[in-house]
Amino acid sequence: MKERLKHLAQRAMRPGLAAIEGRLDSLAKRTASLEADIGARLDGVLGRLDSLAKRTASLEADIGTRLDVIQALVSPPPNPWWDDLKRSAGQTIFQAPAEEDFAACRRIMAAYDRVLEDYGVQREEFFAGSIKDADAAVLHALVRTRRPRLAWQVGTFAGYSALLIASALRDAGDGGILVCCDPEVPHRTYINPVGIAREMAAELRLDAHLRFERGWNALPMGDNFSVRFAGSIPVRGPDALRELGEIDFAFVDGDHSVAGTMCDLMLLQQHLAVGGVIVFHDVKSWPTVAHALHDFLNDIYFYYSGTRQWFAHDVFADGIDGLLAFERLGVVRNPLLRLTVLSDGGVPAAKAELTLPELSFVARVGGDGHVFYFGEVDAGQRLRVELSGFETLDEAVGVSTAGDYVERTVRLRRSA
Ligand SMILES: C[S@@+](CC[C@H](N)C(=O)[O-])C[C@H]1O[C@@H](n2cnc3c(N)ncnc32)[C@H](O)[C@@H]1O
Repeated sequence: MKERLKHLAQRAMRPGLAAIEGRLDSLAKRTASLEADIGARLDGVLGRLDSLAKRTASLEADIGTRLDVIQALVSPPPNPWWDDLKRSAGQTIFQAPAEEDFAACRRIMAAYDRVLEDYGVQREEFFAGSIKDADAAVLHALVRTRRPRLAWQVGTFAGYSALLIASALRDAGDGGILVCCDPEVPHRTYINPVGIAREMAAELRLDAHLRFERGWNALPMGDNFSVRFAGSIPVRGPDALRELGEIDFAFVDGDHSVAGTMCDLMLLQQHLAVGGVIVFHDVKSWPTVAHALHDFLNDIYFYYSGTRQWFAHDVFADGIDGLLAFERLGVVRNPLLRLTVLSDGGVPAAKAELTLPELSFVARVGGDGHVFYFGEVDAGQRLRVELSGFETLDEAVGVSTAGDYVERTVRLRRSA
């Protein structure tokens, strides 16, 4: 009975068991296929992780290299010339700025708010190359206390330093004028910055104290961008300065190359009055500017012709970019008399004997008719010229050198 019951029960359960087995089979198949699928996906994920790890490593290396470049750009370049200029500077030209100088800087910078908004440019980016903070205040203090009558600026840009100088000139009340020289090439924002300087001068009613010259001061030597415009814009400095007469102040912030800085300095120093000052910007931040100024002071040619005797120099080192000022102490004199001796028909009286007896000077006239005397000569001093077949000439020199180069021509008359 028991066996029979068991048999009946097995018969009754058989279909159910078969169904369960069938489902187990299909579950096993699905599990196997899921396993294969998950395996494949895991391989894919691992592969992607590998390639992400590789990309991350290469990005890390790239960022590292770029950071090195940025680091090199932001850390100050070596500037041994600045260190030397600082060591040898006197403390005679710059003075600490007062609150009124900082206030003038704030007032003028604030006036640009409207312009920056109109053109949609960021202040920091736009004024990156302009004079800043303590350097700007010291420049203002120097103009405020020196009260120059005729000032010259190299590198106007959007006019910030020019407006500072012009505002100090207006406050001084002496009718001082600043002439700014700039080639007016477009800035990378595609704005002509000097156009903004002009707008601002009118807006701040400083235009009576500010004039603009379009052109290079001396030569465009350093900035690649400027060199591209070199031929299409005139060099204005030499002619404009000759037309203006002596200047008693100059601020230089233009071509920052060694050669360009030297050209600017050599031109400006020729037009600088005794007691006048030339200020250079960026002497701490631009080794090239410092290099040129250092060479001027130490170049053996300038040194022996009296650079340190004719110029005092001072630095302002507390600001971001660093300033250096030269003050002219005296005028370099190069007295030179050129005498031209001619005989009949304007022919050079070669081999005639020329004497300046009061100066104990005797010389033979050269084949070109010239004799040079390197020294001071007064118009009243005697001049004797003798040549066989001609009357001896004996008269006053007729011209005074007074530190400069002068010329005189004399003619011999054939003896009767
Ligand atoms: C650094 S920005 C002057 C910034 C300005 N001083 C200020 O503080 O706002 C330099 C300017 O010098 C001008 N420049 C470059 N080489 C020059 C040269 N040889 N003569 C005159 N200006 C020059 C450029 O056109 C530019 O506007």
